[in-house]
Amino acid sequence: MYRLLFVVITLLSVNLSIANTVTGTHGAVSTRSQIASDVGIAILEQGGNAADAAVAVGFALAVAYPSAGNIGGGGFFVLRMADGEVITLDARETAPLAASRDMYLDADGEVNRRLSMSTALSTGVPGSVAGLLALLERYGTLSREQVLEPAIRLAETGFELNEDLARQFTQNLRRMGSFPASIEIFSKNGTSYLAGDRWVQSDLAATLQRISDSGRDGFYAGRTADLLVAEMERNNGLISHADLIAYQPVWREAIHGTYRGYDIWSMPPASSGGVLLVQMLNMLEPHEIAEPGWGSQQASHLMIEAQKRAYADRARHLGDADFYPVPVAQLIGKGYAGQRFADFDPSSAKPSADIFAGSWPDEGTQTTHYSIMDSEGNAISVTTTLNSGYGNKMVVTDAGFLLNNEMGDFTPKVNTAGGYGLMGEEANLIAPGKRMLSSMTPTIVSEDGVNVLITGSPGGATIINTVFHVVVNFIDHRMGIADAVASPRFHHQWQPDSVRFEDGAFNTGVQRQLEAMGHSQVRSAGFGLGDANSISYDGETFTATSDPRNAGGASSY
Ligand code: GLY
Repeated sequence: MYRLLFVVITLLSVNLSIANTVTGTHGAVSTRSQIASDVGIAILEQGGNAADAAVAVGFALAVAYPSAGNIGGGGFFVLRMADGEVITLDARETAPLAASRDMYLDADGEVNRRLSMSTALSTGVPGSVAGLLALLERYGTLSREQVLEPAIRLAETGFELNEDLARQFTQNLRRMGSFPASIEIFSKNGTSYLAGDRWVQSDLAATLQRISDSGRDGFYAGRTADLLVAEMERNNGLISHADLIAYQPVWREAIHGTYRGYDIWSMPPASSGGVLLVQMLNMLEPHEIAEPGWGSQQASHLMIEAQKRAYADRARHLGDADFYPVPVAQLIGKGYAGQRFADFDPSSAKPSADIFAGSWPDEGTQTTHYSIMDSEGNAISVTTTLNSGYGNKMVVTDAGFLLNNEMGDFTPKVNTAGGYGLMGEEANLIAPGKRMLSSMTPTIVSEDGVNVLITGSPGGATIINTVFHVVVNFIDHRMGIADAVASPRFHHQWQPDSVRFEDGAFNTGVQRQLEAMGHSQVRSAGFGLGDANSISYDGETFTATSDPRNAGGASSY
């Protein structure tokens, strides 16, 4: 009865199409693009493992989902292999060597958001290609040519645009006005593409072919690098040949937490995602969530109060740990969570203005997520981004790919909101070669050594809370993966002191109860929060679901 009621509420309230949910016993892939998911399954079927599939899907998304699937951006990978090894790969963009701390401040010391979001100056040194190739080299079993072949073919021969992509192109055209190469790719001589039109990307096919032929030198050196640097020089950007040659992805230890007997594995800095996810779960753990239940005043209040405290800590403590001493161990400790949540009041909200970043005595649209599991038990959780949808809207002339505007994720000035209105301090200021702080939260949950859930999401500041919801729905509310992903969500990021929710995120009357408890500005988000393309595994069957908020697709076999 509960399950039926839940599905009905979900479908009515979020105006969802039915989730694309599929099952299989050999492997599964869930992405923002049915085409890319099918590429992943084809790679698994031809004998590749999850790493091979993740690389092939990454390049396929660069063709089939240009808004965020990318080679001009960056991303994060979390792997939990069949033998229990867990590792992450940080392919986040870096600030160019010529970048400087105050580069987005005007003569009056005010932040110029246009510079950090909509110009060549907003582009960080791309990391995706180096990351995908490093993943293939270390964990893949197929050749570079084999995993790049589907993407090259897709770009060369083209594919039929669906409604979703055609609409996105039209919406973004006016913002591409100053970049002729972008207009050329995303329109028919200035006229909008329509659903059903075939979309061919010859320049991108040639770029992908160079990567297939020469590996990282096909992107970070030679013709592709020349084209990228020329684009920068034409538009007063900073990325140089020296930046491209210097770029390296970094293998890092995963953030590890436990929650009600499950192991949580997620991304460390330069993402804040894993730290905040574990921190929020730790704050929740001593409290009852399953009973009072999903959407209740008690459960919602607990989650919002955890969100506020974690995001306040993000502003103070999180940044690129290679440049700033991020107190990771303290932040993800259960003891700290108990201390941090000690002022939780079950009957009233604590105003954000009274929440300060925690400390220790004398010590310490956009982005896209995809999930892959294979028959050997390997799991890979990947979130990649150009930052804004279509990045800074600038296509590299003759190379056919969009550039990111990831520099906007740095804190442009202490105690000033950066990207997505997120506050920041010293830890996330700009420095040459530094990675800008991310919220991406690619996550794997295991139980007794078996990978049972892969999830993650786009959504800027909301990413971490989307993953928080999916994990709590899966573990506390025992939802199947389709419901765990489809159920409406809410988001609080400390500043501003407001709760944004999807319709139906609270049970009847709970919004008013939360307001009566002192939660300020409990308002409809007005749009879907997140796109959590996820997979669960019950020991026999993989269930892959693409988030019903968007036109993604899941595949299995
Ligand atoms: N650009 C969004 C993020 O990395 O959080």
